[in-house]
Amino acid sequence: MKILIMNGPNLNLLGTREPGIYGTGTMSECVTVLRERYPEVEIDCYQSNVEGFLIDRLQAAATDGTYGVVLNAGAYTHTSVALHDAIRSVSLPVIEVHISNVHCREEFRRHSMISPACRGVICGFGLDSYRLGVEALLKMYLDE
Ligand code: DQA
Repeated sequence: MKILIMNGPNLNLLGTREPGIYGTGTMSECVTVLRERYPEVEIDCYQSNVEGFLIDRLQAAATDGTYGVVLNAGAYTHTSVALHDAIRSVSLPVIEVHISNVHCREEFRRHSMISPACRGVICGFGLDSYRLGVEALLKMYLDE
């Protein structure tokens, strides 16, 4: 069972980026913990600051045996019609995640362009949001 964790812009800076909001943990630490916790799951991780590269990776996931995607689209969450369309264009379940509780922050973060295309949304649990996203996909997989 293969899951892709996909991160958008500026999420390569986790650990040092606004630690008061995003914490001090890095993505590689987060993925290491998840791989240890779920050794039976193949967890791929991809990050890009470029919108089109995220779309390319999502399209590739649709044909490389990936079961589902945990997606933190970063700021593209709030702007990207192209990502919305890309999620709708693939048959993979995509779980939208956010580290911070976007609803407690600036007004512009309260709207997600991608939520209507995603299977569900998890936000506000720090890096644990990714674990919850992986577990949502695992449950869907086991229930099938
Ligand atoms: C974020 C929230 C977004 O508003 C922001 O642009 C990010 C990170 C989060 O994980 O809390 O880059 O997606």
